[in-house]
Amino acid sequence: MTPAFIITVTSVSETQDLARELGAAIKSGDFIILTGDLGAGKTYFTQGLAAGLDVTAAVTSPTYTIVNIYGGRVPLYHFDLYRLNQPEELEAIGCEDYFFNNNGVVVAEWGDKFPGLLPDNYLTIHFHRLTNDADAREVKIIAHGKRARELADEIRAMSQQLALKIERA
Ligand SMILES: Nc1ncnc2c1ncn2[C@@H]1O[C@H](COP(=O)(O)OP(=O)(O)OP(=O)(O)O)[C@@H](O)[C@H]1O
Ligand SMILES: [Mg+2]
Repeated sequence: MTPAFIITVTSVSETQDLARELGAAIKSGDFIILTGDLGAGKTYFTQGLAAGLDVTAAVTSPTYTIVNIYGGRVPLYHFDLYRLNQPEELEAIGCEDYFFNNNGVVVAEWGDKFPGLLPDNYLTIHFHRLTNDADAREVKIIAHGKRARELADEIRAMSQQLALKIERA
């Protein structure tokens, strides 16, 4: 794990601008987990990321389907583990192959739920609401493994380009 940093976004459009840039930079095999409370912004972020991956379909929450698959520059496997109680349930509902695929990008909301399932390389993006501003979020970036560190470096550069506030976590 590398030292984390926190980006502050102050609107949905800032969240989605950053996500779109990340979507344009990610590659097959990249694995991203999105964490944070209900309504923190995980699905909205994924919508921006999908746009950056050239997904044209509307991205909706996979809370009930567990995974939605989108065709883009590379396939996007958008998971939401919120309703799962056991890691074995992923297999039971036939999603396991998508979770462990290498020919697309995995974005998993509530992806920290089953730590034992996570690959060696993954990026955590944690969303935290601020009490004094309903449209602001602190977005914490934590890299696990070499490829995730590369992505984290890219996110830092993108955030600077977008003139977002960045601080050490
Ligand atoms: N800066 C922001 N970034 C993202 N969402 C924001 C922001 N400011 C306000 N919001 C609002 O927060 C909500 C985020 O909803 P979203 O569905 O993305 O949450 P979620 O983290 O996916 O929740 P769940 O755990 O239920 O799936 C939306 O209603 C959105 O309008
Ligand atoms: Mg969601």
